[in-house]
Amino acid sequence: MFGVGCLKFLAMLKYLVILFLLVNLVSTAAVDGFSQEYTHAHCEMHIAPELDELDPRRIHGQIHMKQSARGGPVDVLVNLTGFDVTSQERNHAFHIHVYGDLSDGCKNLGRSYDNADEDKTDIEHLGTTGNFGNITRDDTGSVVTSFTNNRITLKGRHSVFGRSIVVHALPYTDGSKGSAGIHIACCVIGRSE
Ligand SMILES: *[C@@H]1O[C@H](CO)[C@@H](O)[C@H](O)[C@H]1NC(C)=O
Ligand SMILES: *[C@@H]1O[C@H](CO)[C@@H](O)[C@H](O)[C@H]1NC(C)=O
Repeated sequence: MFGVGCLKFLAMLKYLVILFLLVNLVSTAAVDGFSQEYTHAHCEMHIAPELDELDPRRIHGQIHMKQSARGGPVDVLVNLTGFDVTSQERNHAFHIHVYGDLSDGCKNLGRSYDNADEDKTDIEHLGTTGNFGNITRDDTGSVVTSFTNNRITLKGRHSVFGRSIVVHALPYTDGSKGSAGIHIACCVIGRSE
């Protein structure tokens, strides 16, 4: 009954099982190790076109965002330059705004973005989701910083893709919504590799 042919068959089966496990392992590693692991976003910041050519605020640069495919916090990398180094105030309010429509420069981007805008139930907290507080320029007029945000997401129906990021002329101050001054730079959040 357990002839040579049968033993050979069992030996072959063993190799097939090992091969199957290896292929499985490699493909799982490939899925985890590459682009599927994170969702990436890019925002190419540029000077508000409505500013005067002689305005000393020439803010431009990049913002990169990254979120695990499983969700969770969003890492935000900010690399901007062109801030006015002659200004006493180093802080600028830095917000996600509701719209990403640049047809009127940086002007018509709606209010500061909040998830609650969509169902209008949480009036008290309007604008808190996309409120990044201030960014602070250094002596060279640059802002190179990174932070993690737990309120925004790049996934699902509350995703911030297609919305904008705004640098305001003035700092963010609590309890005085809408007083952070004009928009001196803006960009639209797009999906990236
Ligand atoms: C910031 O941007 C500048 C100009 O594109 C680049 O040279 C520099 O490496 C960037 N810095 C970081 C930390 O990404
Ligand atoms: C933003 O900057 C202003 C002025 O420097 C400061 O008064 C305010 O507390 C800051 N707001 C936050 C949220 O850091």
